[in-house]
Amino acid sequence: MNSRNNDELDRLIIDYQGRINRALDARLPAAKLHPAKLHDAMRYAVLNGGKRVRPILTYATASTLGVPLEIADAPACAVELIHAYSLVHDDLPAMDDDDLRRGIPTCHRAFDEATAILAGDALQCQAFYILSHDRHLIVAPDTRLKMIETLAQAAGSRGMAGGQAIDLAAVGQALDTVGLEDMHIHKTGALIRASVIMGALCHAEIDDAVLKNLDHYGKTIGLAFQIRDDILDVEASTSTLGKTQGSDAARNKPTYPSLLGLAGAKERALDLHNEALNSLKDLDEKADPLRWLSEYIVRRGH
Ligand code: IPE
Ligand code: IPE
Ligand code: MG
Ligand code: MG
Ligand code: MG
Repeated sequence: MNSRNNDELDRLIIDYQGRINRALDARLPAAKLHPAKLHDAMRYAVLNGGKRVRPILTYATASTLGVPLEIADAPACAVELIHAYSLVHDDLPAMDDDDLRRGIPTCHRAFDEATAILAGDALQCQAFYILSHDRHLIVAPDTRLKMIETLAQAAGSRGMAGGQAIDLAAVGQALDTVGLEDMHIHKTGALIRASVIMGALCHAEIDDAVLKNLDHYGKTIGLAFQIRDDILDVEASTSTLGKTQGSDAARNKPTYPSLLGLAGAKERALDLHNEALNSLKDLDEKADPLRWLSEYIVRRGH
């Protein structure tokens, strides 16, 4: 990626972040609405400066296919709400037991454990509520259902939640690359893959071959994203990450750097980036933001 593309990607990320932050704000219950503590916790867990990679991928995919972004707002919000819920629960004492998230106390630290559990539950429901009723999501009813199905599968026991179960069972275990890849494609990959698919489904007549290639793109960058997360847990600082550095090693989690070393993990992430680019080879320059985002995912510093 040359420096002009870099600037263009930076602008696009800022633009999409602003858009998703406004869209989320408008779709979350007001903090003062009864029961206020729960609504306050939900907003705290979402409107706190995440990178918004998943909704950015939904927007960039929709835009690659020439779909107006208004249509992509609802699916973009839905994936980010599932992601935010997954982080709230991931940080709980029963899971990773982390105190810091996005540079501020984790939800259960800022509120209490029961409220954090309920905030996660309610964010998950809000995601599906948005997909089922959002009035800006002007698509055919079967497309709406397909989006609900896609997100439900990506978030459930055969997707993110299943991956988290594999993660918890793997503590202290030495996984091989097959086991590690299986864990990563479920706990993180599934939702990133769904973010791309949801963007593609915004197109009324998406071509099967294009959808298949975009799906492969989503799958490869989803795995690369978690490999980079594992690398950053070793290499970055707590202040840059906004979450506690070294959390994986402290909790004895099997990771790509622990299995392949840092250099090996970086090489695997770069291979996946090239595979992602290859999946986009039939698409024109409108897909460039997806190409740049793949590179961003394997090189990002936080
Ligand atoms: C962190 O996700 C958790 C993983 C699934 C690796 P992000 O790195 O996207 O976190 P935020 O949303 O920017 O805080
Ligand atoms: C997170 O993996 C996966 C999900 C939240 C589903 P991690 O546990 O590595 O994420 P961080 O490092 O706490 O953000
Ligand atoms: Mg975890
Ligand atoms: Mg964690
Ligand atoms: Mg991590």
